[in-house]
Amino acid sequence: MPKYDFLVIGSGIAGLSYTAKLAQHFEDKGQDVKIAILTKTIAEESNTKYAQGGIATVWNEEDSFQKHIEDTMIAGDFLSDRHVVEIVVKEAPERLQELIDYGTEFDKKQDGSYDLVKEGGHSDFRILHHKDSTGNEIERALLAKVKSFKSVDFFTHYFAIDLITQHHLGVKLTKDTPDKRCFGAYVLNTYTGKVETFLSKTTLLATGGIGQVYQSTTNPTIATGDGISMAYRAKALVTGMEFIQFHPTSLYQPGKKPSFLISEAVRGHGGILKNKDESTFMEKYDPRLSLAPRDIVARAIDSEMKKNGVDHVYLDTRHLEAEDFKHHFPMIYSYCKDNLGLDITGNDMIPVVPAQHYLCGGIKVNEWGQTTINFLYAAGECSSTGLHGANRLASNSLLEAIVYADRAFLKTIEEFGNNPLPDNIPDWNDEGTTHPEELVLVTEMTRELESIMSNYVGIVRTNRRLKRAYDRLELIFIEHEELYRQSKVSVRICELRNMINVAYLIIKQAIAQKENRGLHYNLDNIK
Ligand code: FAD
Ligand code: SIN
Repeated sequence: MPKYDFLVIGSGIAGLSYTAKLAQHFEDKGQDVKIAILTKTIAEESNTKYAQGGIATVWNEEDSFQKHIEDTMIAGDFLSDRHVVEIVVKEAPERLQELIDYGTEFDKKQDGSYDLVKEGGHSDFRILHHKDSTGNEIERALLAKVKSFKSVDFFTHYFAIDLITQHHLGVKLTKDTPDKRCFGAYVLNTYTGKVETFLSKTTLLATGGIGQVYQSTTNPTIATGDGISMAYRAKALVTGMEFIQFHPTSLYQPGKKPSFLISEAVRGHGGILKNKDESTFMEKYDPRLSLAPRDIVARAIDSEMKKNGVDHVYLDTRHLEAEDFKHHFPMIYSYCKDNLGLDITGNDMIPVVPAQHYLCGGIKVNEWGQTTINFLYAAGECSSTGLHGANRLASNSLLEAIVYADRAFLKTIEEFGNNPLPDNIPDWNDEGTTHPEELVLVTEMTRELESIMSNYVGIVRTNRRLKRAYDRLELIFIEHEELYRQSKVSVRICELRNMINVAYLIIKQAIAQKENRGLHYNLDNIK
């Protein structure tokens, strides 16, 4: 049974930032510790890797913390926790500098200053970026940093199944059990098919988003809400799940999952949303036009598509200076050319459609990244810090991840040593289970789940649709539980179990939300 001081689940920006800080701290002190970081596929596969637009921070003199705070509050429809917003915005420049010190390269202008850009909802130029593949660059630099520490054991293709708590010692836990503690996780080694027990004094969940519960999403296949679901099963508090962000402009390519993103920075650069007949429509919805916050733009597109009976709209970039566009957005330009044969700086508008993109809620954490289970932290997209309220401001996600990774690190070292590991944690018990013969059932249940979520729990909701979603999901839940109980665990079975849990939380919290705020829009809530 491997024993660790720290277990980090997830190797995106949140998990890697936290790991780098911990390892550096103990190395500087000359203290030997053992840190395990695990990830379910290859090291770099994560939502982080695909981030395009960039990372927001107040960086130029005309901008101010106050403006960034207000922009975040407005985008979040004033459901954000102002105290948290202030923390994140004010700590941002220091955290950004650390990313730069780790070797992350952000684009600069000819005069050597950073090339700050704008996205929807931002009142100033404050987004640092690396072309249109910022996340890939951040992931590269962070991975190199983390792999340089000898205290870090990096496990790829290790799939975390469940958290270990007193429940595994026979104690019945409820949401309100005092001193509920986490002692690590049961993890599937996908090379051997065996479940290993990773005991750890402190555990960080940094497992990212949930996009795969929808038919169309910009999130890669790893985004199945595993951490949220694990935390929920361990009786941690999970909040804000009704606030699902749909990015207004994913490339229209029917059947392609994940969807390719057309960065909001393209609209920040002057791209304009249009109908097929080249007429503009955003003026009917918001004075900020194509650069209004995402919830408003996504709903406007949804409404235009329904009105015109079409399945996408267009983003027009033809009027923009071609060489400049290709310089800023080389990946988007090539992708459209290579995959759809479009010349988007010449004759062709870009066909775009909203797609699930981000989860604003998640595992509830306090301002130090602590969940409601002791010695269990969460950071990044799987967490609910209070920053995003009812709708996340563009490019605030990568930012939130580095600020909370740092805060979780600070609290972790403060409480380190206070969670002795019990010596009677049982190994994973799979007695009486067999390898399932009918994996087709998992495929079918996954399809049904995605279809339920896309059709009934999307951009525009109604009470009837939500109820229908709930009822249908319940049937899948019952069917899957039976399969799960009888089966030796596999990644696919576990992921589906997690997606069912996550879908349930989204639906349940959407039903309970009686106000239309930000991303939650229920026609029956309109009086
Ligand atoms: P992730 O980066 O998703 O990492 C999660 C990690 O957890 C992965 O390593 C995964 O393998 C691992 N994991 C998950 N489950 C398990 C398990 N059961 N066992 C073991 N490991 C597991 N935000 C911005 O601020 N700016 C942008 O420009 C931007 N652009 C985006 C573009 C796209 C296409 C997408 C999809 C998102 C974008 N976002 C952007 C959002 C942002 O990228 C994510 O919210 C952020 O990267 C999440 O980081 P994370 O570390 O929390 O999770
Ligand atoms: C984008 O580039 O449009 C994504 C930015 C984000 O999700 O914050």
